[in-house]
Amino acid sequence: MSTASRNTINFLLDGERVTLHDVDPNRTVLQWLREDRGRTGTKEGCAEGDCGACAVVIGELDDGKVRYRAINSCIQFLPTLDGHELVTVESLSSADGQLHPVQQAMVDEHGSQCGFCTPGFVMSLYALYRSSSDPGRVEIDEALAGNLCRCTGYRPIVEAAQSMYRAPAPATDPEAAVNALEQLEATTLSCEGARHRYHAPVSLAELETLYAAQPDACLLAGGTDVGLWVTKDRQEIPELIYLGNVPELQGVTQTDTHLEIGAAVTLTDAMPALVAAFPALEELLRRFAGPPIRNAATLGGNIANGSPIGDSMPALIALDATLVLRCAGRTREIALDSFYPGYRQTALQPGEFVERIRIPRLEPSALFG
Ligand code: FES
Ligand code: FES
Repeated sequence: MSTASRNTINFLLDGERVTLHDVDPNRTVLQWLREDRGRTGTKEGCAEGDCGACAVVIGELDDGKVRYRAINSCIQFLPTLDGHELVTVESLSSADGQLHPVQQAMVDEHGSQCGFCTPGFVMSLYALYRSSSDPGRVEIDEALAGNLCRCTGYRPIVEAAQSMYRAPAPATDPEAAVNALEQLEATTLSCEGARHRYHAPVSLAELETLYAAQPDACLLAGGTDVGLWVTKDRQEIPELIYLGNVPELQGVTQTDTHLEIGAAVTLTDAMPALVAAFPALEELLRRFAGPPIRNAATLGGNIANGSPIGDSMPALIALDATLVLRCAGRTREIALDSFYPGYRQTALQPGEFVERIRIPRLEPSALFG
């Protein structure tokens, strides 16, 4: 267990390290950008993860590289930026004002119309630009699936996506980007705002101890459900425990008998293994929100929150999935089918949490579709 703890968050923005003290854990990344930092290029449309106007790109270390993915900043709590790189629409143009190829393509193809959705489209295209060098139409459509345009349509935006690779790519230094992220601290984080507290343990043992001591705390993974409790229900969440830095909750494992998915694995990271094991799930998962949600949301959170509109549970119940639940060093396994005793109720005991989801391999004679 880590013993060092800190109460400041650190992340990268425009190549600079940003250090914030006394962060209110109920504050969203979007609120911080627009109201505290004066970066108003990122817009608020729905404030509930539906429209993509607030999309920003997050860079994080992944197997020795920096991986860039779009998320919705309107429902992302500020402390979760700790240890990451934040890229906003203001980050893209060069110091002399030259537009990034993604922005220039949007101009050239007349992909920018109302200006309200445009920053979000640009950021989703930027995430695509950084992760794929020659996307086809399906990949482009998929990358834009979390962004809504309410007026003129998507054709010129798709054409911008097809043409954005024609201009020379801006110079980047991947090694420097990795080094800068590696220098951000990875120790336990404990932030106290005026009314709210936020803990980000860095091991399973630490999480168990914290949650056993504060079983009324709200466990936070992707925040795509919890974020709305704050932005839409105007709830205050006094105590948050973030699961995203616990490595033991991050694995995807294929055993001889089961596919096992850690509770903090994002839907984006779980999808390839799920589709490989159960090809019939592909259509369902592709329609599961859009990339900015799937890049943050977790299968474990979808299950543990027990939302009646949770999309994954019916298919997982049909697959005879089970959950490994953990509390104070002990685990038990329960069928997902038995996990919900009632509306918005779960079988979790105080201090107990979902550690991983286990899905048995299909028998050769089984039909699933
Ligand atoms: Fe609509 Fe964030 S403002 S997704
Ligand atoms: Fe912004 Fe259509 S161009 S909503």
